[in-house]
Amino acid sequence: MIKQKLIKPVVKALVNNDVMDIIEDNMMPLKKLMAYYNCAIMQVETKFNVLNEEFSLEYDRNPIESIKTRLKSLDSIVKKLTKRNLPITTESIKENLNDVAGVRVICSFTEDIYLLADCLLQQDDVKLIQVKDYIKNPKPNGYRSLHLIIEVPIFLKDEKKNIRVEVQLRTIAMDFWASLDHKLSYKKDIPEDEASILKRELLECAQASSDLDQRMEDIKNRIVDK
Ligand code: GTP
Ligand code: MG
Repeated sequence: MIKQKLIKPVVKALVNNDVMDIIEDNMMPLKKLMAYYNCAIMQVETKFNVLNEEFSLEYDRNPIESIKTRLKSLDSIVKKLTKRNLPITTESIKENLNDVAGVRVICSFTEDIYLLADCLLQQDDVKLIQVKDYIKNPKPNGYRSLHLIIEVPIFLKDEKKNIRVEVQLRTIAMDFWASLDHKLSYKKDIPEDEASILKRELLECAQASSDLDQRMEDIKNRIVDK
């Protein structure tokens, strides 16, 4: 396999310098945009870490179990734009994709999800673009999570950019369920009747795990109230 490091000099040798400059000039806005999304991820992750720190001081427990972040790969960006018949340009990425920057916050309890979402949305530099509450209204397959599309400013050398971030908040149980569901959605070679049995079982598990979340939250509140 050709090493990545070797590609650039080989391409450079094949095309003249002017062509190379054109390629690099066109890549630069994309590289910059991806860097902005990365900065926005850091910004939002820090916001959640700050809230976690404050709550742990005040209530002696952490509402956040873990935070996972991801920057959508260029490959997935191109696939999504192509699928939706949209132009593949930096402008089109900014306008049409809400999930290039993703932050997933995993909490122990459902009430922490709403608490954190409220605290985040109260911050005056956070603009809410869209809410999808799949906890109050689970998807037909049983998927539960609270999704927020927000815009946060990032401050550069001499300008400010507003960048979109998809925030998914879920409990440990919802996350556990979603990863199993994700595995099933990627398996394309399961016979249809077998797949529908698995989907039904997953739906039952979603209900059972939601009941468990509720019972555990009730117990936690009874302990805290003592
Ligand atoms: P995309 O799926 O990203 O094109 O956007 P959408 O408009 O369908 O947004 P939605 O908010 O419904 O879902 C966005 C993300 O939530 C997905 O990329 C997944 O990470 C997660 N998600 C949504 N539905 C499911 C589901 O049924 N199962 C699992 N495992 N994850 C889901
Ligand atoms: Mg997505």
